[in-house]
Amino acid sequence: MGEKLVIEGGRKLSGRVQVSGSKNSALPLLAATLLASEGKTVLKNVPDLRDIQTQIAILRDLGVNIEKREPSTLACRVEHERSSCARYELVSQMRASICVLGPLLAKRGYAKVSLPGGCVIGLRPVDLHVKGLRALGAEIDLDHGYLVARAPKGRLRGARIFLGGSMGSSVLATANTLMAACLADGKTIIEGAACEPEVNDLAHLLNRMGATIEGIGTPQLTITGVPELHGATATVIPDRIEAGTFMVAAAMTGSDMLIENVVLDHLGAVVDKLAEVGVYVREEEEGVVRVHRDSPDLRAVHMTTLPYPGYPTDIQAQLVSMLAVAKGISVVTEKVFPDRFIHLAELNRMGADIHKEGASAIVRGVEKLAGAPVMASDLRASAALVLAGLVAEGTTEIHRVYHIDRGYEKIEAKLKALGASVTRVEDKTGGAPCD
Ligand code: UD1
Repeated sequence: MGEKLVIEGGRKLSGRVQVSGSKNSALPLLAATLLASEGKTVLKNVPDLRDIQTQIAILRDLGVNIEKREPSTLACRVEHERSSCARYELVSQMRASICVLGPLLAKRGYAKVSLPGGCVIGLRPVDLHVKGLRALGAEIDLDHGYLVARAPKGRLRGARIFLGGSMGSSVLATANTLMAACLADGKTIIEGAACEPEVNDLAHLLNRMGATIEGIGTPQLTITGVPELHGATATVIPDRIEAGTFMVAAAMTGSDMLIENVVLDHLGAVVDKLAEVGVYVREEEEGVVRVHRDSPDLRAVHMTTLPYPGYPTDIQAQLVSMLAVAKGISVVTEKVFPDRFIHLAELNRMGADIHKEGASAIVRGVEKLAGAPVMASDLRASAALVLAGLVAEGTTEIHRVYHIDRGYEKIEAKLKALGASVTRVEDKTGGAPCD
């Protein structure tokens, strides 16, 4: 039996909320633990989320012993290398699990990884992952839904690789190629590398494990391969997507909220767009921001998602939710995942006036939204529905809430502490299986 969130809209929020560690950073960091020949890799500030539990299950299958030390610290040590197969049952639950491919291949010379699943946000190919690893000398075949990769004579070799794709850079393809290149013979240059903060977090951990990566934070990464890596300690960066989601929550509800554990440098495009809407984000003390709205009305804006440092696709749905109640017509264009608009229909059920044209959402702001039963379709779309529920008149019921549990730690506890009326209850209508 599934669960649903029941939200009574219209409450002003106030108080402090703490942002958790970044899911999108913690997942590849966990995969990197496969690369260590000796010692423990200790990861701090790891959020307790469904996707993290899935990644832990995959790594345990692959021979990594993972101990939970404090609530958010994991100590990981490779105990055996008997299996190099990441099974469909686990990988299909979460796309990020594909980032075990590069480390397994580089360390063990062989990897068999199911093609991934993940959020329903359109076609999500893996050609750039394959391209990066093949450039390092890997032989890769698709066998009954599994990617089977081999390193000839057990070792990869350094190469110059251009990793940009038709939609720009790829975060996880960069992570996979980067991790593999650390143990390849010779030098690798990755051009068109993703510059997301999560990629930098991974590169810093790899360097602490003994790798030699230069150009971190730029689209050109230079890696000088080393024979072995060892365990190291790292603290996962704060989740910029969760921080952005709370900023939008504060803006929509016109609340006085302090958001803690925020790296503003990671949120430049979001802060800039919010200012256009009439919402200002000010750093009160290091890592603590206050969100302030300059008028009762939010202004319509145009926004296009782009790879970092552009506006993140992972905060697109939340912005659309806010623009649904802004004054005027906004145009929101997706240049990362052109089909990522499943939330529009659900927002329209709540009285929004949004239509889709190609890869754009045309949002005509309405005075108010009305609570309604709605269905979460993917992780960030479900966040958008929660935000809409917070300002809607009456009761909103969000079904298939397991989507939100993939990426938002203790979401209802955090919102309740801010004064929102959010309850999690058993969903007697049942939830469909994870798609
Ligand atoms: C990561 C994030 C996800 C975010 C996305 C874009 C994690 C765990 N997930 O996903 O939350 O929405 O970055 O910021 O970090 N592409 C190809 N070929 C490939 C790989 C990707 O064409 O082999 C395309 C994708 O279809 C998409 C674009 O590249 O259009 C960017 O996707 P990518 O950066 O790879 O997303 P993920 O790394 O899967």
